[in-house]
Amino acid sequence: MADLDGILENKDKDYGIGVPVQRDGGFFLKGLDNCDWGLKDRMSRIFNVKTGRTVMLAFDHGYIMGPTSGLERLDLNIVPLIEYADSLMCTRGSLRSVVPSTSNKAICLRYSAGTSILTELNDECIIDPNDAIRLNASAMAVMVSIGGKYEAKTIENLVRTADAGYKYGIPTMGVTAVGKELARDSRYFATASRICAENGANIVKTYYCEGFEKVVNSCPVPIVIAGGKKLEEFDALDLCYKAINDGASGVDMGRNVFQSEAPIAMIQAVRAVVHEGYTPKMGFELFEELRNK
Ligand code: R5P
Repeated sequence: MADLDGILENKDKDYGIGVPVQRDGGFFLKGLDNCDWGLKDRMSRIFNVKTGRTVMLAFDHGYIMGPTSGLERLDLNIVPLIEYADSLMCTRGSLRSVVPSTSNKAICLRYSAGTSILTELNDECIIDPNDAIRLNASAMAVMVSIGGKYEAKTIENLVRTADAGYKYGIPTMGVTAVGKELARDSRYFATASRICAENGANIVKTYYCEGFEKVVNSCPVPIVIAGGKKLEEFDALDLCYKAINDGASGVDMGRNVFQSEAPIAMIQAVRAVVHEGYTPKMGFELFEELRNK
């Protein structure tokens, strides 16, 4: 009964008394050490574990804008880009109708919906968490409008989403908007981002601005930037570069990819800036090379 001797014998055993319990600290993304395994697993699908960053392809614009330029035919415009993205931000409608179920990409599901650009934006509700589970969503994205008419409602949407997110292990992404009267500057983007995080968001999407490092540093969870309106390709790559340099954990980019003259070349150039440290000049050279292939 040597094994029994081993169980009963106390001497020579190292119980590690006095050594702090080794926790799963040092998770590669900030602010998430104390979250559940499932939530972290989903974050690890959205963000590249080696670089800590993501290239999220956004094509949820139709939920408020209809068939906007570059998204008239999701099957033709978006499906060829999917393989180059780390994650897809889209509605459940486009996911079920267009995105191949074999894509195996992390899905950041547009989880709030409401008024269109034809009326006042941000009067939104949220969908059923069971649908996010059915769709194997890696995150649920909810609009939060700070200083706008629907501020309280959008924050309640975020809070209810985070409740479901913590219950089921699905991260919540707060999508910041600032009221029409407010400047789109670091003061308001930092306020909106921090409000999202404090109310339970595990990722925040906001916009790049002067003083962006303050927005990032005052937000306890990872920030990704939206691309915004279409820019010249070099300028869009410059935007990515500055955001990453100032601490963004990636981009959630739509129009600057799918409205580009060469979307497949552009998303690869964006990837090079986000994941490989390319400068805007190097990224633009890559874009030119790929578009001329
Ligand atoms: C805005 O709320 C939408 O959710 C878009 O996903 C987001 O703005 C990113 O797209 P874009 O880069 O075109 O601004």
